[in-house]
Amino acid sequence: MADTPTGQVGTAIDDRFASAERFTTLRGLRAEAERQLSPSAWNYLWTGTGDERTADDNTAAFDRRQYTTPLFAGISNPDTSTSVLGYDLGFPAFTAPFGGEATFHPDGHLAVGRAAERAGIQQMVPVAASYSLEDVAAASSVASVFQLTFVGEEDHVVEMMHRAADAGYRHICVTYSPIRQWRERLLEDRFSPRTNLAESNFGQGRSDPAPLVELLEFTQPRWNWEQAKRAIARSPLPCIVKGVQSADDARASIDAGAVGLYVSNYGGRTIDRTAATIDLLPEIRAAAGPDIPIVLDSGIRRGSDIATAIALGADAVALGRLVAIGLAADGERGVLRTLELLQQEFWTTLGHLGVSSVAELSPAVFRDAR
Ligand SMILES: Cc1cc2nc3c(=O)[nH]c(=O)nc-3n(C[C@H](O)[C@H](O)[C@H](O)COP(=O)(O)O)c2cc1C
Repeated sequence: MADTPTGQVGTAIDDRFASAERFTTLRGLRAEAERQLSPSAWNYLWTGTGDERTADDNTAAFDRRQYTTPLFAGISNPDTSTSVLGYDLGFPAFTAPFGGEATFHPDGHLAVGRAAERAGIQQMVPVAASYSLEDVAAASSVASVFQLTFVGEEDHVVEMMHRAADAGYRHICVTYSPIRQWRERLLEDRFSPRTNLAESNFGQGRSDPAPLVELLEFTQPRWNWEQAKRAIARSPLPCIVKGVQSADDARASIDAGAVGLYVSNYGGRTIDRTAATIDLLPEIRAAAGPDIPIVLDSGIRRGSDIATAIALGADAVALGRLVAIGLAADGERGVLRTLELLQQEFWTTLGHLGVSSVAELSPAVFRDAR
């Protein structure tokens, strides 16, 4: 089963209960990841900022949604495939850009890309990866979106965009300028990005002289929308803007030249007490109009969450912690298994909802819509 690419149209899942796979559920993968990692590496993977209210609410907001399943509505062969930003996806997901990933497994994003390719989805690669953007691009055919932070010297940022284009990436994922994040569990662990993440080759992707870690502090120039718009215009690749959490920012991103929006609060890892992204999605979709592609992350924990996100207006989701957990549990195999289980649960959810294709998902699947 592990060698069977998933995400094909109508993938059969009849053998799922008899699977010889080491991990039969995402819960099992998570337990193994926790066993594999030191407590402080696990805290780096899992925890959010402050009281972790946003991190918790990201998942609670999915849990609050209730489907309705009319009798005899179920279907047996839903199609989980879709097309987003020009990419054909076996199911509507990308792997999210997460940095310092060699903390979880030495193969890092090389393994993530290989697993994503086998699962029929695409990979987003962060500038803070443990491998160079060229090495990640060479590892698979699905390293398509390069995530780059708009901070520091504009020419360096544009240079990185060209480097990504030369390596074969097809989109830039623009992130805003982060500043120091208040992660209390990392403070308690005395986990220092400067030392702990340096050991994982954090930020190998950068070529400019400023170490990436310094960009995360206050020392580098911050950007405004005007500058973002100019850099997007200078980009050799189309850009999507990540971190959109309001209708205003959706409109500003489109105005700045974005070809897609990425609704995200970074899994509650940047600042606490912001809203769950799934709660923000409907107003962002309304502001953006029906045509611009929207990717959403923060809080996806199972296949049914993917259906919820698409039903509320996203075209695809991105998977952060889940993919990091798969990587920590068993490298490429662990990521592939994670993606297979997600695709299979998503398939099952569509079947119960009586939805035969991704495009058919709408708010009508929810109980409160009736
Ligand atoms: C360990 C880790 C490192 C991350 N590093 C980055 C990063 O370098 N750049 C970025 O844009 N997002 C980063 N993220 C955020 C993810 O891309 C994504 O937005 C978030 O994990 C989504 O929430 P979820 O984990 O609940 O799925 C990171 C997330 C994790 C878990």
